[in-house]
Amino acid sequence: MTGQVQVLTHPLAQSFLTDIRDRRSQRAIIRNRIRALSVLLFYEATRDLPQHAQPVTTPLAETCGVHVGATVGLVPVLRAGLGMVDGILEFLPEARVFHLGLFRDETTLQPVEYYSKFAEHEPVNIAFVLDPMLATGGSAVAAVTRLKEWGVKSIRYLGLFAAPEGVAKLTAAHPDVPIHVVAVDSHLNDRGYIVPGMGDAGDRQFSA
Ligand code: PRP
Ligand code: URA
Repeated sequence: MTGQVQVLTHPLAQSFLTDIRDRRSQRAIIRNRIRALSVLLFYEATRDLPQHAQPVTTPLAETCGVHVGATVGLVPVLRAGLGMVDGILEFLPEARVFHLGLFRDETTLQPVEYYSKFAEHEPVNIAFVLDPMLATGGSAVAAVTRLKEWGVKSIRYLGLFAAPEGVAKLTAAHPDVPIHVVAVDSHLNDRGYIVPGMGDAGDRQFSA
């Protein structure tokens, strides 16, 4: 596998992913596990986040502290990426959130944009694309392209399941974008679904 792909192999992460895969898992479990895994992915993907010095006075003394020294944007790809937002916001409540509406045309498998607002604002320093499924890679490439057009200089992709095809496409189009996932699965089926994957990530979180 080429490119900057980081797979979260921690046993707890893999156990949560197994719950998500399980066709018997109810919505509440799926949501809970996606939320937890998103936090773990964000933790891994922010190890090199810039810091700025922040003097702080404890009850005992003054000391040197730090805070995050960059503006951070979370970019959930609707619908399925929505479930990845709230857990991360508990860690970084000041992060901005820019929703990006993309759906895959079922026939062509090409992404179709139907909602975005971020271009009205100043670009953030670092943006995290949040989408559980990196399948053909079309949606991820489109999302990153939009963020670059907006002027974001540092972009990272956080997802749960990737297909080799999606990793290859995103890496070829945007080799500067690190990809953080919990599994790179076997292949895509003839409808562009990741196998074994979790099925339809939007439906399983919100409506199945
Ligand atoms: C899913 C998923 C990604 C996209 C991945 O969204 O959440 O956005 O497919 O496929 P790709 O890598 O082949 O582009 P979907 O279009 O099903 O929309 P939904 O989340 O609203 O169900
Ligand atoms: N979108 C999904 O929800 N699941 C897949 O496996 C591929 C794309």
